[in-house]
Amino acid sequence: MSNLTTLRKICLVFFFLAFQGVSASVYSFTSQEEYLSHVQGPAACVSQQCHEKFTAGTGKSLHEPVDKGICFECHRKKSYSGRYGIDADQRETCTRCHNNIKDKIESSTSVHSPIMNGSCTSCHDPHQSAWTYLLKQSYSELCSSCHKATRLFSGVIHKPVRDGNCGICHDPHASNYKHRLVDAGVNLCFICHKEMVQGMSRKYIHAPIIQSGCSACHDPHSGNHEFRLKTSSDQLCFTCHEATLHEIEQSAQKHEPARSGKCTSCHSPHYSESRHLLLDSIDTLCYRCHKESSQWKKRRFLHGPVAQGNCVACHNPHGSDNAFILRLPFPGKFYAEYKKGVYNLCFLCHKESLMTLETTETVTRFRNGPVNLHRLHVYQQKGRTCRACHDVHASDQDGRIRDEFPFGQVSIRLEYKKTKTGGSCLSGCHKERSYDRVNRVLYEK
Ligand code: HEC
Ligand code: HEC
Ligand code: HEC
Ligand code: HEC
Ligand code: HEC
Ligand code: HEC
Ligand code: HEC
Ligand code: HEC
Ligand code: HEC
Ligand code: HEC
Ligand code: HEC
Ligand code: HEC
Ligand code: HEC
Repeated sequence: MSNLTTLRKICLVFFFLAFQGVSASVYSFTSQEEYLSHVQGPAACVSQQCHEKFTAGTGKSLHEPVDKGICFECHRKKSYSGRYGIDADQRETCTRCHNNIKDKIESSTSVHSPIMNGSCTSCHDPHQSAWTYLLKQSYSELCSSCHKATRLFSGVIHKPVRDGNCGICHDPHASNYKHRLVDAGVNLCFICHKEMVQGMSRKYIHAPIIQSGCSACHDPHSGNHEFRLKTSSDQLCFTCHEATLHEIEQSAQKHEPARSGKCTSCHSPHYSESRHLLLDSIDTLCYRCHKESSQWKKRRFLHGPVAQGNCVACHNPHGSDNAFILRLPFPGKFYAEYKKGVYNLCFLCHKESLMTLETTETVTRFRNGPVNLHRLHVYQQKGRTCRACHDVHASDQDGRIRDEFPFGQVSIRLEYKKTKTGGSCLSGCHKERSYDRVNRVLYEK
């Protein structure tokens, strides 16, 4: 047994004796010198070589009662039970002076386990320390000395966690929030991610941010997924949006970025000024990837919904059962039999009578006298589809007529000329033919 241990024992025996008035003879000191030094009172304790470490050691900060030499404020227990006269529950010992900590512990729903076990000194040195707050080790190592859980430190580690700055998010003692967080929800993260504070004043905020904070999706500590997402980025959204998952799974035609879970190429996971948390206006989003389509804007005419940027009037951005992820079936060929419903995509906005009336004075301009040329071309066993003549997005020719139609290996050109009361068309289908709404052009049968 080392000299020091013996001396410690003696000193503690001294505390007991000095403050409880018990006869010194019960305890044995190794020398008379020792005995005499202890009976001089508590102040003598720190002046002794044996205990000078409490005042002259490597410590940076000295606990005030130690500095004052009032050792007995803590070493005061009547029965000395191998714990140096300290209360078994240090909450008693320490909070006698530290009322704020006492109040906090008593008023909090979540108290840190070591404190519940009555051990303030699992983190603090009661006498002095080289670290701030009388910590037993550097703040950056303190928490991880007990919390070695690999899941906190696996993969890419969040900067404050890497720095051991646990206390910026967790109160080391107690708090009223789950996991003893210092704040509920997003404010915790905004301490540092200030650039996102402004985002919270956007018109649309993603519900989970409000309902459960940032850690609904991000692991606050570390992780193997990009951005420390809790689930890989291509699966994350599906964990809550099952309906969208089903929509995509059940679609015969899946839009590639939705199929591959690149939801954030169109949606913000956080907030947005646009409905459905879209990152930008719908057409701008589409043009980001569909670069050729962005050239449509240079055409003379843009179809109404295209001009309005409303691509999703016709296309389902996630997927559908129809070619070109169209919301409704639409014949993609040159010919199609006219059947009920076949052009419903167009009839979402246009009248079906455009195609069905044999004669009309008003419904369509595409008529020769009263004869509806739309019906003539479209309403047939082997009818021409709208695509045969129109470009649904954009065109340079009047009447939204397309320049050409790819037909097998060749292209059928369409040359359309508009007149005040009609027009003419020269195409691979027939030689130039004219129509006139006022003076009907006559053709032999
Ligand atoms: C703020 C309360 C407090 C004060 C004041 C205090 N101590 Fe302590 N002391 C403790 C606690 C608590 C322990 C038990 C440490 C542990 O459990 O790790 C302890 C342990 C000790 C020990 C035995 C373990 C060791 O570290 O060597 C000695 C010796 C000791 N104190 C001496 C002193 C002396 C001398 C003074 C006065 C200068 C003093 N203490 C003042 C709280 C205090
Ligand atoms: C006799 C009163 C008293 C007791 C008992 C006491 N302290 Fe203190 N403590 C003080 C005073 C005074 C200060 C300095 C003023 C302040 O920061 O509140 C202080 C400061 C501290 C600090 C802050 C140091 C800093 O650098 O800011 C910590 C941590 C601390 N005490 C922990 C403890 C622990 C742990 C115990 C129990 C083992 C304890 N105290 C018991 C009086 C006491
Ligand atoms: C799990 C480690 C841990 C335990 C256990 C612990 N503390 Fe602390 N304490 C800290 C840390 C870390 C700080 C630094 C300040 C911060 O991060 O809030 C601190 C700061 C303090 C302070 C100074 C700042 C303040 O809030 O007034 C006091 C006093 C204090 N602790 C007292 C106590 C007392 C009393 C106990 C036991 C009831 C205790 N501590 C238990 C880790 C701990
Ligand atoms: C002396 C060991 C020890 C130290 C040091 C320690 N803890 Fe703990 N901590 C525990 C124990 C034991 C538990 C309870 C078991 C568990 O939930 O893992 C716990 C639980 C926690 C919890 C979970 C609370 C909950 O409700 O889920 C958090 C958060 C935590 N500690 C943070 C910290 C932080 C931050 C520090 C550093 C200031 C720290 N701990 C230092 C031992 C320690
Ligand atoms: C950026 C803020 C932040 C930092 C820094 C931080 N935590 Fe956490 N911690 C959280 C949040 C938020 C939760 C709640 C997690 C949840 O809801 O999924 C949590 C939960 C915990 C839990 C309990 C749940 C679990 O996963 O076991 C422990 C233990 C824990 N943290 C320990 C630590 C330790 C140790 C450190 C420092 C090494 C630390 N934390 C640093 C924010 C943080
Ligand atoms: C103490 C400051 C601090 C706090 C608090 C903080 N962060 Fe961070 N965070 C950073 C820093 C610094 C980075 C820079 C990248 C790095 O090194 O991790 C970062 C990066 C990130 C990243 C992006 C990582 C990447 O790969 O670009 C995410 C996501 C993140 N933090 C989420 C959160 C969440 C969620 C919270 C709240 C639970 C939070 N942060 C709280 C400092 C903080
Ligand atoms: C619904 C899930 C979800 C929630 C909730 C969430 N995030 Fe994110 N976060 C993501 C995804 C997904 C990314 C990756 C973005 C991408 O792919 O462009 C990301 C990226 C980030 C980034 C790094 C890239 C960037 O945009 O700067 C930071 C920082 C970040 N999030 C912080 C936060 C903070 C802080 C909160 C809480 C206010 C939060 N996140 C809430 C899913 C989420
Ligand atoms: C933690 C669960 C959760 C996760 C993960 C999640 N969301 Fe959400 N999201 C919701 C809830 C709840 C709502 C609001 C209710 C609703 O509209 O379904 C919502 C709403 C939305 C909306 C607005 C719906 C509308 O009708 O305007 C979009 C868009 C959205 N989420 C996209 C995403 C994307 C993209 C991801 C992945 C980056 C994602 N969500 C991840 C829970 C989640
Ligand atoms: C190509 C861009 C794009 C991609 C990729 C995309 N979305 Fe969307 N999403 C949209 C647009 C545009 C709307 C609005 C549709 C409307 O107005 O009818 C929308 C609407 C939504 C809505 C709300 C309306 C609804 O359908 O319930 C949710 C939820 C949603 N998307 C989730 C997701 C998820 C989850 C993913 C990833 C699997 C995803 N989105 C991928 C463009 C996209
Ligand atoms: C992140 C990139 C991206 C965005 C944004 C995007 N798309 Fe796509 N889209 C693709 C890819 C990749 C394909 C499959 C490859 C291809 O056919 O070009 C595709 C295919 C399509 C197809 C089917 C083409 C075919 O030949 O079957 C249509 C139609 C389409 N997208 C429309 C849209 C619309 C409308 C938007 C805006 C709401 C949009 N896309 C936004 C990447 C994107
Ligand atoms: C009026 C309905 C309608 C609207 C609105 C619409 N589309 Fe289309 N889209 C179609 C049809 C029908 C097809 C089938 C092929 C064709 O006829 O050109 C198609 C095909 C496509 C294709 C694949 C073939 C190609 O031409 O490149 C892309 C990409 C596309 N659309 C993108 C868009 C974008 C981007 C917008 C918005 C700016 C948009 N669409 C608006 C009906 C529409
Ligand atoms: C979302 C509504 C909507 C849908 C669906 C729609 N259109 Fe249109 N369409 C319009 C609007 C609005 C105009 C008038 C603005 C304009 O002149 O472009 C228009 C104009 C037209 C014109 C030119 C009219 C003119 O005065 O020159 C043609 C041709 C046309 N649409 C064809 C189609 C075809 C073919 C479809 C089916 C693939 C279709 N539209 C589906 C809204 C729609
Ligand atoms: C044989 C070529 C051809 C076909 C096939 C065709 N259109 Fe047209 N359409 C025209 C011409 C030419 C005009 C312009 C008439 C004018 O302005 O003199 C026109 C005009 C229109 C207009 C503007 C309103 C009107 O009738 O004047 C709409 C809307 C329209 N077409 C829709 C459709 C739809 C929907 C389909 C398929 C169901 C279709 N078209 C098929 C040639 C065609």
